[in-house]
Amino acid sequence: MNTAFHKLVLASNNEGKCREFAQLLAPFGIEIVSQASLGVTEVDEPHVTFIENAIAKARHASRQTGLPALADDSGLCVDAFNGAPGVLSARYAGEPKSDARNNALLIERLQGAMERSAYYVCVLVLTRYANDPAPLTAFGRWFGEIIDAPRGENGFGYDPYFLLPDGRTAAELSPEEKNAVSHRGKAVRRMIAELREI
Ligand code: IMP
Repeated sequence: MNTAFHKLVLASNNEGKCREFAQLLAPFGIEIVSQASLGVTEVDEPHVTFIENAIAKARHASRQTGLPALADDSGLCVDAFNGAPGVLSARYAGEPKSDARNNALLIERLQGAMERSAYYVCVLVLTRYANDPAPLTAFGRWFGEIIDAPRGENGFGYDPYFLLPDGRTAAELSPEEKNAVSHRGKAVRRMIAELREI
């Protein structure tokens, strides 16, 4: 792997994500530095696609730090809603963001719907420099369906309502089981493969 990637700034202010990515990337000799520790300012995420928002975040962090930057954007897409909540997943029910209110709104809007299929998406973007014309990208998708009654204590967000083909919800998986099959786990493994190529 190119030594330029041994230290990456993570374009996220979410401590949990920083920990998760640090763990996932450490085995590959990649050190993650949080953008907060480098004084990177917040950037808008005004776009309707995950990839555009992830590019905006990574480019901004590279511009402000001069380092290669890794950004992620993720969310839940419900087929019956043409992919909503999508990029608005974290704030589906408005401010302040609340998993409980997001889930209540999702279930309410799906009442009586026959089509309950949905998928999580995670997009990763790695910019080598701010004006990188060819950022590395990796997608992960995880398919399931939305149920009315929550099950499971693990995970976060929409997980207790996200039913997998094996009959468990995402919240009934251990963190290791979730990483092995989730949108985020898949995207990270694909990004590692991209990094190995260059
Ligand atoms: P962001 O990527 O930090 O903008 O957050 C995306 C939002 O999508 C989260 O706040 C959750 O609502 C939802 N989301 C993304 N990944 C997951 C997941 O693995 N489980 C449950 N909800 C998720």
